[in-house]
Amino acid sequence: MNLFQRIRDHARSARLPDGTRVFLRPLRAADLKHAQEYFSGFSEESKYLRFMTPTPTLTPETLKLVVEVLQEARAGISVAIVDHGQDEVMIGGARIVPTDRRVCCEFALSIVDEWQGRGLGTILMREAVRLARALGYHRIEGSVLSVNTKMLRVAQRLKFHLHVDPQDPSVTIVSRTILP
Ligand SMILES: CC(C)(COP(=O)(O)OP(=O)(O)OC[C@H]1O[C@@H](n2cnc3c(N)ncnc32)[C@H](O)[C@@H]1OP(=O)(O)O)[C@@H](O)C(=O)NCCC(=O)NCCS
Repeated sequence: MNLFQRIRDHARSARLPDGTRVFLRPLRAADLKHAQEYFSGFSEESKYLRFMTPTPTLTPETLKLVVEVLQEARAGISVAIVDHGQDEVMIGGARIVPTDRRVCCEFALSIVDEWQGRGLGTILMREAVRLARALGYHRIEGSVLSVNTKMLRVAQRLKFHLHVDPQDPSVTIVSRTILP
């Protein structure tokens, strides 16, 4: 196992503010067989806020991109899981990918509708920063629709800097320096 795999294989448990226990671990290729079920947990609004297109669907191309992210050394996906006895259910995910600037990565975050507003987005966003730091990035950023108050609240709470994209005011760029 190489260094990047070791970093990504690190799993932990966390508690939501209401005491519910969730597990945070890297996405595994085997999880993709549940992708359709996971994707169906998002309302049209949530999919629009995440993908910035009207009605995204889960296509083979999307899954291929996910697999490519898993294979890229400087990328990673952390997922949040709840354990229902023998079943693990995926309830959220945070993804880190490199940008064309060497020390800067881009994040994306999504929590299934049923679990939104319970503090999980904040926990997974912290996890994204931790993953980015472990992968050697000095800066993390993301493009968020300016109407996405929930995501902007999460970013603000974690001390991200917010600035409206001067080219497109419907988008807010959120970014943060990552200290070693
Ligand atoms: C954005 C998202 C990741 C946030 O995750 P979450 O688990 O809902 O977030 P949290 O519960 O940790 O925090 C939500 C914050 O929004 C606030 N909030 C909740 N509902 C809100 C609403 N309708 N309007 C404004 N703020 C709201 C909460 O009070 C909380 O802020 P606080 O911590 O300052 O009190 C999640 O809602 C989501 O997946 N949305 C759809 C996809 C998306 O938008 N992804 C982001 C694009 S990168």
